[in-house]
Amino acid sequence: MPASLKKRDENIIEITDISFAYPGGHQALDHVSLSVAAGERVAIMGPNGAGKSTLFQMLNGLLQPNTGQVVVDGLPVVREHLRTVRRKVGMVFQDSDDQLFNTTVYREVAYGLANLKVPEDELDATVRWALDVVDMRDSIDKTPFNLSGGEKKRIALASVLSMKPQILVLDEPTSALDPKTSSNLVGLLTKLNQDLGITMVFATHDADLVPLLADRVVLMEYGSIQFNGTPTEAFREKDLLARLNLRLPLIAQLAEGLMQDGLLPAGDLPLSIAQARALFKQVLTASCDA
Ligand SMILES: Nc1ncnc2c1ncn2[C@@H]1O[C@H](COP(=O)(O)OP(=O)(O)OP(=O)(O)O)[C@@H](O)[C@H]1O
Ligand SMILES: [Mg+2]
Repeated sequence: MPASLKKRDENIIEITDISFAYPGGHQALDHVSLSVAAGERVAIMGPNGAGKSTLFQMLNGLLQPNTGQVVVDGLPVVREHLRTVRRKVGMVFQDSDDQLFNTTVYREVAYGLANLKVPEDELDATVRWALDVVDMRDSIDKTPFNLSGGEKKRIALASVLSMKPQILVLDEPTSALDPKTSSNLVGLLTKLNQDLGITMVFATHDADLVPLLADRVVLMEYGSIQFNGTPTEAFREKDLLARLNLRLPLIAQLAEGLMQDGLLPAGDLPLSIAQARALFKQVLTASCDA
């Protein structure tokens, strides 16, 4: 069934009580359970070393848990299903150098499609579409290794998008991007989610990104999940956020200050510019009318 036809209440990712230690003995995941519904957008946050990237590598079988189980779209993520699972799960790595290995940008973005023996004209059109999406068409003949960090991230994204996966797993997708590219990416991911029902799981340290892109926030620490709820609920957890080296979105910090000054009514903080604008408009209009 195409992603767009999936029922939104169906869990496309089911992680059940997984634990994992790296060969050196470091316990990177400790009894993690997490369900993600089809079409959902989940942000995973936590300090450096919390286990976010390790968890992501479980989703396409790059790592296997020592105990517990990962199921993607009904398939346990084990050796015999890896080919199918990896077609369903498009993964953008935290470090683009781990992802790029072809000699030209064109070949990099075409790689997965060529393996699937997609007809030449369709492959060519899809590669150009994906490069347009990340605004990198001019680099089509360059070698990926000489690109800047942000350019490499864009090519890594294009190579994943070209496969039109059912699930996008993005490890700090905006970390190397300039503001315009980052904002374009938010727009694109929102559109992919809305139009095609693509499920998104992403790790980020950027609190400002979360309200724009997440339906749900999972907070991790020392390889385990400490919190799982909506962005509004997550940003109420001030003590936990501080403990995890996280902060509120900047606009929420401003609103919090104005609430403390008695200039905004007490209540949930606005988390995005759009939410703040609506709240400020309401308060300013009321004070003008008074
Ligand atoms: N290949 C490895 N061998 C041994 N230990 C590792 C390996 N990769 C990661 N670790 C350890 O596992 C823990 C979790 O690492 P992970 O990369 O999953 O964290 P993270 O939450 O993604 O952090 P960051 O925010 O820095 O990206 C860390 O303590 C890290 O040092
Ligand atoms: Mg990481």
